[in-house]
Amino acid sequence: MHFQWYPGHMAKAKKMMQEDMKLVDVVIELVDARIPYSSKNPDIDALAKNKSRVILLNKSDMADQRYNNAWKEYFEEKGYYVALVNSKSGTGVKQVQDIVNKACEAKIERDRKRGILNRPVRAMIVGIPNVGKSTFINSFVGKATTKTGNKPGVTKGKQWIRLSKFTELLDTPGILWPKFEDQSVGLKLALIGSINDNIIDTTTMSLELIIILSSYYPGVLSNRYGIEQIIAAKDLKEASLILEAIAIKRSCLLKGGAPDVDRAAAFLIDDFRSTKLGNITLEFPAQFPTEKKEAELIEIRNASTPTIE
Ligand code: G4P
Repeated sequence: MHFQWYPGHMAKAKKMMQEDMKLVDVVIELVDARIPYSSKNPDIDALAKNKSRVILLNKSDMADQRYNNAWKEYFEEKGYYVALVNSKSGTGVKQVQDIVNKACEAKIERDRKRGILNRPVRAMIVGIPNVGKSTFINSFVGKATTKTGNKPGVTKGKQWIRLSKFTELLDTPGILWPKFEDQSVGLKLALIGSINDNIIDTTTMSLELIIILSSYYPGVLSNRYGIEQIIAAKDLKEASLILEAIAIKRSCLLKGGAPDVDRAAAFLIDDFRSTKLGNITLEFPAQFPTEKKEAELIEIRNASTPTIE
């Protein structure tokens, strides 16, 4: 199964971001704390070369608290400035200004040495659709917003948001990238609602969810749906059996009595998205070793290789 999600407006938005990159000092990328790796746009790395980078793990309230800090450390190890944020309640939003300042310390110092004082830091806000960019900006900026369009040196009509004397923000449209490195990235993006539900079949999405849940959150499905889940689903076939069991338990039946898996899939996904299944993280730092971790792993492996004398 292959799916593509890169409508024309996203290609256009990326081009605009490329042009605007010259105008900013720092890029603030929002990712979804439930899938921090899969919701991070790899295109931004190429676009934002040589810029300071901030990552905000948004919707951290919906993710599994046990993994939030592990993900924060994961990105810090890669050189990003990172914060855990719940833009809806505002938790963690205040500290973002400090993090942006830290990320720009070197640039402010360079400016100072060249006699440029008090030039505001300019930040571009990026993120995939539905990651919570608007909610974050509203919370971050609060009532202090002053929209400042048409600045000299700034593309006509572009809306900058003046946060304070020291910081200006440039919002950008939510974009994805042309090709997902593997199918599970696309499925996870669909599960959190960043890819339209009519692009990827709901039942396929739910099978991915079942495979992850039954491996990492044993008990969640049986507690919620009263099914007897004896083994973790390793593949689509085993996940389909679990989905059928959920359909039967929930009396989702087709005419003739066969389980209505599509209906069961739809409410399983609803339950996940509304956190009725609990706070769930769908991917874990250990699945994506950083270069440093990889080097450590190689060292450990080498050290434990028995030497033949
Ligand atoms: P976008 O601009 O990136 O497309 O996203 P937007 O701010 O519109 O947020 C998308 C949805 O995510 C909204 O929910 C918003 O309330 C929710 N959201 C954003 N940040 C957080 C967060 O940190 N935690 C939680 N729990 N939710 C967050 P919605 O259902 O579409 O709208 P609403 O009913 O909440 O108004």
